[in-house]
Amino acid sequence: MPEAGGIMAQQARIGIYGLGTMGSALALNMAELGIPVAVANREADWLPAFMNEAGDLAAQLQPHETLEAFVGGLALPRVILFMIPSDAPMDAMIEAVLPLLAPGDTIIDGGNADFHATRRRSADLAARDIHFVGMGISGGEAGARHGPSMMVGGSAHSWIQLEPILTAIAARHEGDPCVAHLGPDGAGHFVKTVHNGIEYADMQVIAEIYGLMRYGLVRSPVEIGARFERWNEGPLRSYLVEITGKALGYVDPVTGHPAVDVIKDAAGQKGTGRWTVIEAVALGQSASMIDAAVAARSWSSEKSTRVAAEAVLGGDRSLLDLDDDALERAFLAARIICHAQGFRILKAASEEYDWALDLARIAEIWRAGCIIRSALLDDIGAALRDNLPGGQLILAPAMAAELGRCIPALRWVVAAAVAGGHAAPALGAAIAWFDTMRQGRGTTDIIQAQRDFFGHHGYARLGMAGVHHGPWWD
Ligand code: 6PG
Repeated sequence: MPEAGGIMAQQARIGIYGLGTMGSALALNMAELGIPVAVANREADWLPAFMNEAGDLAAQLQPHETLEAFVGGLALPRVILFMIPSDAPMDAMIEAVLPLLAPGDTIIDGGNADFHATRRRSADLAARDIHFVGMGISGGEAGARHGPSMMVGGSAHSWIQLEPILTAIAARHEGDPCVAHLGPDGAGHFVKTVHNGIEYADMQVIAEIYGLMRYGLVRSPVEIGARFERWNEGPLRSYLVEITGKALGYVDPVTGHPAVDVIKDAAGQKGTGRWTVIEAVALGQSASMIDAAVAARSWSSEKSTRVAAEAVLGGDRSLLDLDDDALERAFLAARIICHAQGFRILKAASEEYDWALDLARIAEIWRAGCIIRSALLDDIGAALRDNLPGGQLILAPAMAAELGRCIPALRWVVAAAVAGGHAAPALGAAIAWFDTMRQGRGTTDIIQAQRDFFGHHGYARLGMAGVHHGPWWD
């Protein structure tokens, strides 16, 4: 295959290495907008098929069989987007490409990376005057092809190179591109991790509401799908509700049964939900709904244990007396709470790592393109823009009013689920966190007493400064 990118060809503005699902969709997105893109792949024999599939867009794509030719085909300073696994392959790729780069060049990791690795790579490469950008990209294949939401970390220098390209390819919410430079080093990947944590919680809430309708109200998948589709026209409007509605309507072509009924109930997970929980805890935060969602996926994968336990412990679930309006409001309350938890983690990380994250902008770039896009994010963006004291979403007047309307339903739904033997871990976590946070005086006075009793840990006393002890000891 002829090499492109030589002196005759227009130098590519960006190179994409890694032509898997996301990498090839991003390359086609850029090509469609007239951006010359150099492309390469570890297995060079993928290139002809990719170029063929590109059709007319191939004119903007410059395939290279070797890393040297790929790097050589890029305009200076170079910008290279790696769409490869973000762990060991990313480190190996950095080692391989580094000798070919010049000071001022930018390497981007567009995968779901652990932000600690991104911070380490940024620092290592900064010492060689190479810029490293951790960029979260959300929206799956369709988003990458037609408009993703992108959460960009890294230096101001890299952002100057990237902004025109990313602004062109991003999803748009009422004309506003869903991309932003959020902060240095790991900021972009951290924000993407929390996005995924919220995604896990929202998906789990949907699964719980589906389960209550399926087993508590004894509705068919098609009926439940129709309900989700109706909800998608109201305050629950979101990509995840939309695809849930559609998925529930599908029939398995092999058996003729509803498609969901032939899917093993064991959820996969690649790690971003778990990372969100780990980082939340490390930051002294709670992400109890995300934790519940991660746990529910882990428990789900213990299929054989659950089957054995059903035989020993009984798997009965009662019929429920719940109406759709209560389920809708419970869902909305839980969705507000999982976003509130997610934004608290972002705020804590911003303070810890000195990122100065613009929380309102983050909500705004999640309004289109990404997996958690929803009508609620529009309201959250507005609430955060409104100079919210302490950045606590539950205190924003609009959110507090919506919670006031929806919490009684969440309480009722969780109570009914628990009484009827239906597992609802994320909904339960939501109401527990809400009830904890709305009480000015809680119950940890006794925990402080216990700690002091057995360990002389001391406690703060109301109305008196200093650390206090006793009176437990003789
Ligand atoms: C996105 C998705 C995407 C991917 C998740 C799935 O924003 O486009 O979050 O990044 O689908 O990584 O993660 P799990 O496999 O862990 O569910």
